[in-house]
Amino acid sequence: MTHEHNPQADQMGDESMVRNLEAQAIAIWPQEEPLFERYGLPADCRILDVGCGTGEISSRLARLYPHASVIAIDMLEDSLEIARDRHQDLAPGLEFRQQDAFKLEFEPHSFDLVVCRHMLQAVPRPVAVLAGFQRQLKPGGWLHLINEDYGMLHMQHGESNPDRLWHAGVMTLLENTGTDGRVGRNSFTMLHRLGMTDIHIDYIVLDTLRVERETFAQIMQAWQDGYTKTIAENTALSEQVIRDTFKQIVADILNPERYAVWHVPVISARAP
Ligand SMILES: C[S@@+](CC[C@H](N)C(=O)[O-])C[C@H]1O[C@@H](n2cnc3c(N)ncnc32)[C@H](O)[C@@H]1O
Repeated sequence: MTHEHNPQADQMGDESMVRNLEAQAIAIWPQEEPLFERYGLPADCRILDVGCGTGEISSRLARLYPHASVIAIDMLEDSLEIARDRHQDLAPGLEFRQQDAFKLEFEPHSFDLVVCRHMLQAVPRPVAVLAGFQRQLKPGGWLHLINEDYGMLHMQHGESNPDRLWHAGVMTLLENTGTDGRVGRNSFTMLHRLGMTDIHIDYIVLDTLRVERETFAQIMQAWQDGYTKTIAENTALSEQVIRDTFKQIVADILNPERYAVWHVPVISARAP
């Protein structure tokens, strides 16, 4: 297991990420869950959740498909320990294993659904990872992705300019550390070139009208806590500017007079 395949391993393993994944699941799942109806999966389906973190969504999938076999993998043993501990009531239908998304160790064409959420923006060579997912799918099986795109967050300007944080900060950090902060918008082309069919892109609208302000603010606070240092170390933005901007974003989200939105792309496609 190397950091090369999980370059944000330090941030992914930080306590702020545990908080973040909890808040993201609360904010996103209510709009995401109905999208699974499209897949028409059999009751006894086999599901693979790649980069499962603390199992927030693996557990929701195990509850949504109580007769399924859900296997959830991650590189970080500490996150898997939290997942096993929190969701032990769902075993053996839900199983957590340490595995690298670049070296999947399952029988080819053995899953009805492969899920991968909030991971592909954080790994190098996402196309290689997607090709691996395709190999795991049964013919006609579905892929369900949340691929982040840091050009899809829109906050009002104040003394600080939030666009600068997302573009000159986060997207530049990812570029400088060998990953793709625009993988959300780039996913269609990747899947098309791999020969995947039935490509859909839906958007979760994570905004201050649809999601509790407190929950939205918790996501931004967790990003600030986990990522400020690494953004400052890898871009031209100073730690002070990054902190001030996150502080303004959190305050605005909590302010009933202000509006903020994160368009979260949910990408689905079928194996031929
Ligand atoms: C932001 S978290 C998302 C967690 C979960 N999918 C969710 O939506 O709640 C991304 C996870 O991907 C994992 N990850 C990153 N690179 C990986 C790789 N090469 N193989 C397996 N997991 C990886 C990280 O360790 C982290 O736990």
